[in-house]
Amino acid sequence: MKFEDWQILKFETLDSTNDKALELSTDASGCYVVTAKTQTAGRGRRGRIWQSLQGNLFFSLLLEFDMKNIGELVIISAISLYQSVKQINPCADLLFKWPNDVLLNGAKVCGILLEKAAENYMIVGIGVNIEQSPKNNDLLYRATSLKEEGIDIKSEEFLTLYLHTFCNNINILKNKGFESLRLFWNKNAKGIGTKIEIHQEKGNLLGIFKGINEKAELLLEKNNEISRVTFGDVFYKE
Ligand code: BTN
Repeated sequence: MKFEDWQILKFETLDSTNDKALELSTDASGCYVVTAKTQTAGRGRRGRIWQSLQGNLFFSLLLEFDMKNIGELVIISAISLYQSVKQINPCADLLFKWPNDVLLNGAKVCGILLEKAAENYMIVGIGVNIEQSPKNNDLLYRATSLKEEGIDIKSEEFLTLYLHTFCNNINILKNKGFESLRLFWNKNAKGIGTKIEIHQEKGNLLGIFKGINEKAELLLEKNNEISRVTFGDVFYKE
């Protein structure tokens, strides 16, 4: 996969770039990027709202990807974000937070939302806080933006950098498999070996975070037993 393969569709305003990507998927051939300067109904994981703050980047990748390997796509999308920021500032303090987050100086700087599209297409919706971050009190996790942390880049430049990096990681996955990507994620994840709590609708799980497995499931140790977690919000307890 290479940068030139992407068909890039730019909009001023959309409800959600993920919705536009879903619409496109019924008659798609090849891969697409949908961007919008503003979203009027941007959404986040688990039914949450994604605010459309001016100057931030909102885009959705629409690509063919086997749904049963969705965990790999989540990890590649987050790694590509991490590596893009590192290319701008190699000293940036970045860590992964399971499942899809990248933390900059300990705060959430982007959001990734994967959704199934038509046929064998998947949508990777990404919001990057380029200039601003939400400041409301009801945030699940403290947020920041690249600019607030001293990293200056324009949305369009970031998108180009991201697409190049994403292609490179897809090629690694295709040619060499998931293992090196999984190890990279584990090496740079926040809180491995420490106590975490995972909030799910039906209750909370508490245990020691042991990284992710080959399906990108979170490994949680409790009473010397390891269980696999497939969804939820992680909170650090140490
Ligand atoms: C999260 O909850 O952290 C995921 C947020 C994902 C937001 C992006 S912005 C572009 C795309 N369109 C949407 O409606 N959501 C995603």
